[in-house]
Amino acid sequence: MTQDNKIPSKVLKQTPFLLAPMDEVTDIGFRTLCEEEGSAYGTTELTSVDALVRDRVMESRYKKENLKINSIQLFGHNPQTFVDAAKKVKHEADFIDINFGCPSACVNSNDSGAILLKDPKNVRSIVEKLVKEVDRPITAKIRLGYEKTTYLDVAREVEEAGASMLAVHGRTAKQKYSGKANWDAIQEIYDKTDIFLCGNGDITKPEQIDEYMGSHCDALMIGRGAIGNPKIFKDFLEYKNNKNQFLKKQEELKELSREKRDEIKKREQKEYFLRYLHHLKHITLQREVYRIQHQAMYFFKGISGVKELRQQLMQVKTIDEVIKLVEEF
Ligand SMILES: Cc1cc2nc3c(=O)[nH]c(=O)nc-3n(C[C@H](O)[C@H](O)[C@H](O)COP(=O)(O)O)c2cc1C
Repeated sequence: MTQDNKIPSKVLKQTPFLLAPMDEVTDIGFRTLCEEEGSAYGTTELTSVDALVRDRVMESRYKKENLKINSIQLFGHNPQTFVDAAKKVKHEADFIDINFGCPSACVNSNDSGAILLKDPKNVRSIVEKLVKEVDRPITAKIRLGYEKTTYLDVAREVEEAGASMLAVHGRTAKQKYSGKANWDAIQEIYDKTDIFLCGNGDITKPEQIDEYMGSHCDALMIGRGAIGNPKIFKDFLEYKNNKNQFLKKQEELKELSREKRDEIKKREQKEYFLRYLHHLKHITLQREVYRIQHQAMYFFKGISGVKELRQQLMQVKTIDEVIKLVEEF
């Protein structure tokens, strides 16, 4: 049985900010780091149910390790395969999340991801089967539609099928990342359904808590704003708990010289990145040094000397070598 404290809405009522699933970003190291900084929890990169049932997925992609909460995101199209895959990984999962939002042609050509939004009944059949047959809370993540918006029908089906939480990215799949996220649409779902709702799209500033939380959604899901920037969760929590203190600190920071601010930023980002690497060390990501090189570029973007660091990182072969370079940076 699910423990009380392991229900998405309960967890998110306590801490209403969470890291969005992101391919090539939300690995175990990054999810752990963001959880430590205040994200209620993180979700794995999208993982194919077909690959899972054929044992073609490295365990490191979905293992729980030291996370308090692990949400595993699955994509596919056949409800039975979803169930088989979920049963295979559920010992590592607190929640199972379903991807109904991926706009990639390669995923959509396989009738998976956002293309499923074209037919809300398809969405329902997947959610319903997982809710009935897998004893973990099932959550879903959608966009507003594929080309045409279908979000209200989809949200209603997801709710009626028994999902525990719905995350909505306020764009259609065809829009990919263009334009602004449509928060009016997210608000419409909030007004017309009772499912616990996480709003997602273009959240980067704590002031958006006042704009959206409680009026458009119950909690905020943060994607690109968190890439290389785990501190965003700490900032959001600080703003929520003591807005005046947060704003005062921001003002004080602005009064420092540019050099001093850069120095502080570099020190903070180095600390974060070394913690990120520490969380990877005890698992088998050694083979994925290229991914760590990318993450380093996200963490150190805009910091002086980053070009040289990038060149040096291209040469390294192990996490230990990355650690050494970053320590000396
Ligand atoms: C690099 C990258 C990878 C992503 N991978 C996934 C994914 O694996 N699963 C998913 O549901 N959404 C994925 N997304 C979408 C994000 O979860 C999120 O919905 C989107 O970025 C909008 O939120 P944002 O404006 O806060 O970034 C990805 C986004 C980015 C930028």
